[in-house]
Amino acid sequence: TGHFTYDPGYGSTASTKSAITYIDGDEGVLMYRGYPIEQLAQQSSFLEVAYLLLHGELPNKSQFSGFENDITHHTMMHESHKNFFQGFHHDAHPMAMLAASVASLSAFYHDDLNVDNPEDRKLAAIRLIAKMPTIAAACYRYSIGWPFRYPRNNLEYVTRFLHMMFEVPSEPLELSPTCAKALDLLFILHADHEQNASTSTVRLVGSTGANPYASIAAGITALWGPAHGGANEAVLKMLEEIGSPDKVENAVKRAKDKNDNFRLMGFGHRVYKNFDPRAKIIREMCHKVLAEMGVNDPLLDVAMKLEEAALKDDYFVERKLYPNVDFYSGIIYKALGIPTEMFTVMFAIARTAGWIAHWIEQHETPGSRIGRPRQLYVGAPKRDYASIDKR
Ligand code: CMC
Repeated sequence: TGHFTYDPGYGSTASTKSAITYIDGDEGVLMYRGYPIEQLAQQSSFLEVAYLLLHGELPNKSQFSGFENDITHHTMMHESHKNFFQGFHHDAHPMAMLAASVASLSAFYHDDLNVDNPEDRKLAAIRLIAKMPTIAAACYRYSIGWPFRYPRNNLEYVTRFLHMMFEVPSEPLELSPTCAKALDLLFILHADHEQNASTSTVRLVGSTGANPYASIAAGITALWGPAHGGANEAVLKMLEEIGSPDKVENAVKRAKDKNDNFRLMGFGHRVYKNFDPRAKIIREMCHKVLAEMGVNDPLLDVAMKLEEAALKDDYFVERKLYPNVDFYSGIIYKALGIPTEMFTVMFAIARTAGWIAHWIEQHETPGSRIGRPRQLYVGAPKRDYASIDKR
């Protein structure tokens, strides 16, 4: 292997040191800044978690209200940013619109932005966390032909987002507290996950000194793939396709067949080889939310049957494939009225907190170098050019 270690997919390469998130894949442990995910899920809020990821400590009351104020101050999109959407065909995928729209923020905030200045980095973080729900809701409303809503800054983060998504003029939006609470919890669980594909992408782009909005937009595109954040959308489509519990057996059979490229979406993880602690929390919450909202979704029966069938199947047991964070999240999003194409956008809103925390950590770390993997060359040896009439 020459001078380099060959490690396809970076299964055993640590690309960086980081003090943000800790995962123990064998034990099913996930902690943000040392706080177990179970405690944060039960007691914290997404905005508090965002503060924790960025600053390393939980905020006290005045720090939190300062942070909330800053976020609230930056929720609006620039008026001309709105025109940007008009260029999309109405049925563009919301993730495509989100990625392009966030990248376009680098066209709004660039001249006076110095990535080496801590204040500028902080402002970029605030802007991103604040504007993401506004942009996300705009993607949705554009896709269904509804006018955009301004952020209602008297509401808190998640409720404000739900208003921008679903509010219709002159008709008050009836939101159950269960709905906002469930979404807040999903955002907490998705907020960070150390060096996953999208976060590593943000860091790689960030390592070149690129604008933070461009770096986060790159993360969004990486998240979109079905092997990563796109899995939540893929899970729901798969459950719908399976359709009823009696068809589950066949799906499991197909997933095991190496000549069939069908995989059980929402199953397996590069790091978790015991269980995904986020999936455990979401599974429980899924039953609770559906019961509280009086929703009876037959897809939940399909999901439960599928989980049961896979967990006792040798193929899945041997390979340590368990339901991951995306397996049950879609059923909850669906119960909240979020359309399937928006699921990965939900993930992106939450993960923005983690991405930007990593981007900041990278810029705060002295001696950070440009990311530049090596390769093992397997192409043609040296040969001589022949003119086209001699080929
Ligand atoms: N269904 C069927 N077989 C699977 C699955 C699955 N979902 N996942 C892995 N395998 C098999 C795979 O075929 C391989 O078998 P063999 O050793 O016989 O060749 C073995 O398990 C190891 O899989 P791998 O692809 O080498 O594992 P990886 O660590 O490279 O991939 C993964 C991890 C999450 C991409 C993969 O498990 C997968 O594609 N899962 C489905 C998509 C999904 O749910 N993604 C969300 C991940 S969690 C949230 C997030 O990151 O956003």
